[in-house]
Formats: sequence, structure tokens, C-alpha cells
Amino acid sequence: MKLGIIGAGFIAKFQAIALSEVRGWEIAGICSPEGAEQLADFVKSKELGPAAIYPSVTEMAKNVDVLAIFSPNFTRIAVMEEIRDAVKSGCELQGIICEKPLGRNYAEADRMVKLLEETGVPGAYFENQLFMKPLVIQMEQLEVVRKAMGPLSLVRSAEEHGGPHNSWFWDPVKQGGGVLNDMGCHSIAVGWYALTPPEKSPDFLQPEKVTAEIGLLKWGRPEWREKLLESHGIDYSRTPAEDFATGMITYRNPETNQLSKAQFTNSWMFEKQGLRILMDGTGPGYAFEINTLASPLTVFIGDIAATAIADQEMALEKATSSRGLLTVQPNEADLYGYTDEFKEALQAFRGGRDGKLPWSYGRDVIRLVMAAYLAAEGGRTLDLTDPRVIREVESYIPIVARGEGADILY
Ligand SMILES: NC(=O)c1ccc[n+]([C@@H]2O[C@H](COP(=O)([O-])OP(=O)(O)OC[C@H]3O[C@@H](n4cnc5c(N)ncnc54)[C@H](O)[C@@H]3O)[C@@H](O)[C@H]2O)c1
Repeated sequence: MKLGIIGAGFIAKFQAIALSEVRGWEIAGICSPEGAEQLADFVKSKELGPAAIYPSVTEMAKNVDVLAIFSPNFTRIAVMEEIRDAVKSGCELQGIICEKPLGRNYAEADRMVKLLEETGVPGAYFENQLFMKPLVIQMEQLEVVRKAMGPLSLVRSAEEHGGPHNSWFWDPVKQGGGVLNDMGCHSIAVGWYALTPPEKSPDFLQPEKVTAEIGLLKWGRPEWREKLLESHGIDYSRTPAEDFATGMITYRNPETNQLSKAQFTNSWMFEKQGLRILMDGTGPGYAFEINTLASPLTVFIGDIAATAIADQEMALEKATSSRGLLTVQPNEADLYGYTDEFKEALQAFRGGRDGKLPWSYGRDVIRLVMAAYLAAEGGRTLDLTDPRVIREVESYIPIVARGEGADILY
């Protein structure tokens, strides 16, 4: 399957690494205002495909089978409108992939779903954490116990690191908020999924109640604001975004009526070796726990040797330290689920169908993220069974995403 990648930054490179472990894909094209040549060089060096550089999405769409939207959140709609037009003018695509989040708010996510419908092309929403092998394998391992004892009743999921790598992530208007939008979409999705009986679809459990809190715990302090301004040109004294979010979503199983809860926590002020994804779940008489900082591999780099390290991130995504006892994940792309989401998308598109996670699921996740913002910003517990609340959530633009976060975060 010939893949055309839109955007050539962090995730595009990570996904290219993942594709080196997946059969059946060839990186045929890249289209990006920056980074295309470096990514093309990498792709060619790994023999992952010809990686021709195209001046526009329209041109690339004529020469590939599948497009992957790996560009920043604020480009989603314009990119997808161009894809829609390309398909309408005769480009034959077999699939369109969109990275998380599907949009910066519900209205954008809904527009993305409708644009995809206009193309008639199958879609896959890329939420990698649902494909993480430790998560999938605990489900298989515990299946017999779950059937005997009943489903999980509590899941806690967290993704945390010390802050994003590129300026637009920090800009709440461009990104769609702060850490709650950026990484809450992962933790909310995976919490929902981990509670869901494996034989059911990922939207089977019905969200009923949402509570949440957001805070600006580190990057709002004057010394850290100064560092952010210097490194990324973003002024958190005027337009801050939350660097911490936590909340709880209550779900109902529509067949058994059983209630279960998923707690999520996300931060950009996490001080450890690097990115940590943490999940744990508890059912009657059984449990599971995943911690991506627990690796079979650690290395030690003493002060005297530290200067020899040129690239901190070679050990772990968002690594903040290059000396001491360091955690190294030998295969991050596989651990985080990138390889398996591409495997699944290939099978789905070959069969002419949406991926396991259709774009409408990405929109469902954004609905929950917006509900969490509304709950946090207004200090409310939302009842998601009330159609008036759903309407409010679906038209909500978070205060933070409007660039007015200073009113509530300080
Ligand atoms: N699943 C994950 O774990 C994960 C991790 C990181 C990023 N992401 C998502 O991937 C997307 C990209 O993030 P990133 O970290 O790679 O960002 P990035 O800033 O590192 O790279 C973005 C790339 O897109 C290009 N670009 C900008 N505008 C464009 C446009 N209009 N058309 C095409 N390309 C354009 C840029 O030149 C750059 O090459 C975001 O939506 C982000 O949320 C997902």
C-alpha cells in the first residue's frame, strides 16, 4: 500500500520507524512545508519506499493509495478539504489516516467526519495507545478471569512528560487547549477502552458523568514562563494553557447496567526520565498495571561521560536527562502501539473498510475531552445523559483554547 505522509515532524518520523517493522506499506510520498527532505532521507536510508516529495497534497493524492494526516492540529480542516477536493476530482484513495486529536474541538472533529464522508474513502483514527501490546495482552491474559469474575470496574490512565517539543503545541489557540487536549485525548480514550469488554466496540460503554480539574502548576511560574518565552516564543503570562489535568468519567454498560469509572491524569510538568504512560485496572479479584518507564534496559552515564551524549532523546521520548541511571525503551514505536495501528489499518483498507477506530470514534473522544474542559472550567459535574448538556459540550470552545486561560488558570 503506497502511503503519502502529510507533515514531516516528530510523529511522521516516529511512524516511519514503526513502518520499518510492518509489512505491506511503502512510504511513497511526503508533503510538508518543513522537514520533508530530512524525512525522505531517513525513509530512503531504511529502504521504506521512494519517499518522493510533493509540493501539494493534491499532487501527492494522485500518486498514492493512502494519505496520513500527521500535520499540526490547526491544519486539520484545510488539509482535509484539499483531500476531499482531490478525491472529487478523480484521485482514487483506499484510506485516509488522521492522527489524534481529530480536531481542536467538537465542531472541528465533526467537520472532519463529514469531510471524510464526502470522499467515501475509509478512514482510520490513529489512537496508538489502544494498540499498545501490554494493554492488548493483559486483556487476552485476563479474559478467562474477567468472564468468571465480571469486568473491570476502575481504570486509571495517565500520560505525562515535561512539555511538548514544538511551539504550536504550547499555543492554546493553535493546539486546541493545553495538556488536556494534547494528551487527555489519549488517556480518556484508553481508559474507556480498557473498561470495555473486548468483544464489544470501543464506543460500547455509555459515558454518563464527567468531572475534571485543570491547573497551571509549573509553566505559569515567572521563571518557567520566561524559559518558555525564550525557547518557544509563547507568553504564558498572557495566553496560558493548563499543564495539568485530571478527571473522572463514569460509564454505564447498556446491557448489564453496571457502572464503572475511568480516571485520567495528564501533565506537562512531569519530572522523571522521560515520557511515562501509566495504566492500571482493577476488577473483582484481579488487576493489571502498565508503566512504560519500567524497561528491562537501563543504562548509567556518569558525569564524566555525560558530555559524550549528543542526543538526549535517543533513550526515550521526551527524555530530560542525559546522565545518571537512565531508562531506555528498546522499541518505543512498538511499545506505544504505532506498529500495530498501522498493521490494523492496512488490513482494514485492503478490505475496503474503516479501521478499528473510525473517525467517528475520534469525534466521540473529542466530545469527552470537551466535556472535561467544560466540567473543569465551570467547576461542574456534567450529566452526559442530558441532551441539553450534550448540545452544550458539542458547541463548546474551551476558555483556554480561546486564548483566555489567564482568567481561570491564575
Ligand atoms: N500519537 C502520538 O503519540 C502523537 C505524538 C506526537 C504528535 N501527535 C500528533 O501528530 C500531529 C503532528 O505532531 P508533531 O509532533 O509531528 O508536530 P511537529 O511540529 O513536530 O511536525 C509537524 C509537521 O507538519 C508540517 N506542517 C505544518 N503545516 C502543514 C500543512 N499545512 N500541511 C502539511 N504539513 C504541515 C510541519 O512543517 C512539520 O513538518 C499532531 O496532530 C499531534 O497531536 C501524535
